[in-house]
Amino acid sequence: MDYSIETASLKELQCDCIIVGVYQDLQLCPSASVLNDNTQGLLRKLLDRGDISGKNGETVLINAIPDSAIERILLVGLGEKAALSGKNYRKALFAAVNTFKKTTIKSVVCSLAESEVQGYDWQWKTRQIIEVFSDAVYQYTLTKSDKTTESQLEKLIIAAPDFELSRAQAGLAQGRAIADGVAYTKRLADLPANICTPSYLAEQALNISKQYRKVDVTILEESDMEDLGMGCFLAVSRGSRQPAKLISLNYQGGEPNSKPIVLIGKGLTFDAGGISLKTAAGMDEMKYDMCGGAAVLGTFVAIAEMGLPLNIIGLIPTSENMPDGDANKPGDILTSMAGKTVEILNTDAEGRLLLCDTLTYAERFNPDVVIDLATLTGACLVALGRVPSGLLGNDDILCNDLLAASETANDSVWRLPLWEEYQEQLKSNFADLANVGGRDAGTITAACFLSQFAENFRWAHLDIAGTAWRTGDKKGATGRPVPLLSQYLINRANG
Ligand code: BES
Ligand code: MN
Ligand code: ZN
Repeated sequence: MDYSIETASLKELQCDCIIVGVYQDLQLCPSASVLNDNTQGLLRKLLDRGDISGKNGETVLINAIPDSAIERILLVGLGEKAALSGKNYRKALFAAVNTFKKTTIKSVVCSLAESEVQGYDWQWKTRQIIEVFSDAVYQYTLTKSDKTTESQLEKLIIAAPDFELSRAQAGLAQGRAIADGVAYTKRLADLPANICTPSYLAEQALNISKQYRKVDVTILEESDMEDLGMGCFLAVSRGSRQPAKLISLNYQGGEPNSKPIVLIGKGLTFDAGGISLKTAAGMDEMKYDMCGGAAVLGTFVAIAEMGLPLNIIGLIPTSENMPDGDANKPGDILTSMAGKTVEILNTDAEGRLLLCDTLTYAERFNPDVVIDLATLTGACLVALGRVPSGLLGNDDILCNDLLAASETANDSVWRLPLWEEYQEQLKSNFADLANVGGRDAGTITAACFLSQFAENFRWAHLDIAGTAWRTGDKKGATGRPVPLLSQYLINRANG
């Protein structure tokens, strides 16, 4: 989609439809008022008739406007004027863009950023328009014969006043970068596991390095991992015919000697559970077990496009988890790269086995902070549902920074405790620790396991099992937590 900002008056802008807002008390937003005057009071007439009350998310599409150069007008309810929150602003934007589905509308002007939104400026308001529109028009077609999409939108013009132009432009640049990162992540994550293999993910990372000068990529093969002693990671991949990879991305945007932020994304291109085989229902969704890795790649797209002045390392351990004659078995004892021994009690708790060795590997980058993102536990869905991602970590400042960023980005997280008492559950009679901690507090004990490999740096873990994709009719990747990570990195770049 083509995004731009225009400061000219609405009636001078060529487009298929102009989007304007109306509040709950039937008060027209300034642009709606102007269009009302230009159309002999048409909008007022619709309000008087009760066609729209102004409740948040209501829409009326006026498809023909007699005696006017304006093609169409979309009236969007914003709700109560005094209470227009960031969330409601986004809701109204989603309602607007969804009305264009199954129409022939290709170009629109959006004037909704003129509304006051509590706590946010024009940069944020502009950025959200792009993020929401891009999110809503995304549609997976790659492996369908019919490539036509529900939305034909090609061009989005954001109306802005002269004196806000620079902020709007900054928002446009950020919005485009984040929207591209999210769409990238969704496209990759929606691919089936017979296309999106560990080797395929590695190729995608190499393509990113070709596209962006500041990004370098190296791929570690299984033989390299053997040299490094990654016994836990390799134990998972031995049950799969697809060779595992450890993808390493390096974005050099900051001073050469400034410590990097390390992002680690779980990249299980398919998780059948291994010998502790999952049940059949919904197993197809385990193609999404690489969403952490896809979100690291999407975040790299966003930061490279924004050109943030930071040094960032991305690490994606990627493999399949399959049952096989050579697969690891319950009761097996593995030696991690850190030297700790791990008793496998359930081969389906494989994500932590890839991540523990990758966390140890991250030490060599002398990281400022390490953030891992993983579709790690079904228990996270039980605890938090599909609304926030789970957040756990060993550093309050880092966790609070992520909470703050999640608020701005509208990509929520909720912190769970990582208290010592929970570590008890990981005790093993035969090894230094077990890979599962029983039924209770599954998200926390998974993070406890990881914490034992993250003792030498500030670290946070995002459990995205409930947020990385939608299930049911709307099954598909969400691109989360690319907006959260992008916002965290924007905040870090700003000081
Ligand atoms: N990838 C799954 C977690 C998952 C399950 C994400 C369902 C989203 C939806 C992970 O590898 C896994 O299988 N975890 C086990 C851990 C258990 C064996 C301790 C789980 O959650 O059942
Ligand atoms: Mn599993
Ligand atoms: Zn998994």
